Amino acid sequence: MLQAEQSRTIPFVPSYYDDLDGSFDHAWIMLGRGVRDRRSPFHTPTLATIDADGAPEARTIVLRGAMRETATLRFHTDRRSHKPFQLERDPRCSVHVYDHAAKIQLRLRGAARLHGEGDVADTAWTGSRARSRECYAQIAAPGTALRVLEDLTAGAPSIPTRRATTSP
Ligand SMILES: Cc1cc2nc3c(=O)[nH]c(=O)nc-3n(C[C@H](O)[C@H](O)[C@H](O)COP(=O)(O)O)c2cc1C
Repeated sequence: MLQAEQSRTIPFVPSYYDDLDGSFDHAWIMLGRGVRDRRSPFHTPTLATIDADGAPEARTIVLRGAMRETATLRFHTDRRSHKPFQLERDPRCSVHVYDHAAKIQLRLRGAARLHGEGDVADTAWTGSRARSRECYAQIAAPGTALRVLEDLTAGAPSIPTRRATTSP
């Protein structure tokens, strides 16, 4: 009996679990990691905005920056997509992430500021990888309803849709 009790695994409880300041610190650490680590769930949070009818709209985005000093997150988007228009009308938005492995849910609320031109946009563009920039070269605007696949690829730069295969 004693042996069985001793061998029972004690679940690991992180120090911030019962510490509000520690939880807040940890949230920013996770957000910072999300910017750098593509495998982190914090790399691809959900951004929710409000459409012209007042209905919520949510989508996945890539977290590009997390600045604790200013309590600011940075995302990149195509100006033709819905979200910039929605955020211009109503800057209120929320961001949600769930990290299954860490059992952590983060819910953030804020007001968006758009940087279509200027230093912030220029720095973001020059700091982006060529592969990321290709996303913005698509003819069809993000969120466009496609009737046929050609609607997406017509006039777009040639990006292979399949991996090249080699014979053994
Ligand atoms: C893994 C993943 C990452 C994405 N990252 C972004 C992103 O960083 N910025 C963006 O505007 N859209 C991103 N998208 C596409 C959006 O989810 C969405 O489909 C698109 O932006 C159109 O949304 P909207 O018309 O509601 O603005 C991503 C989608 C996926 C699946």
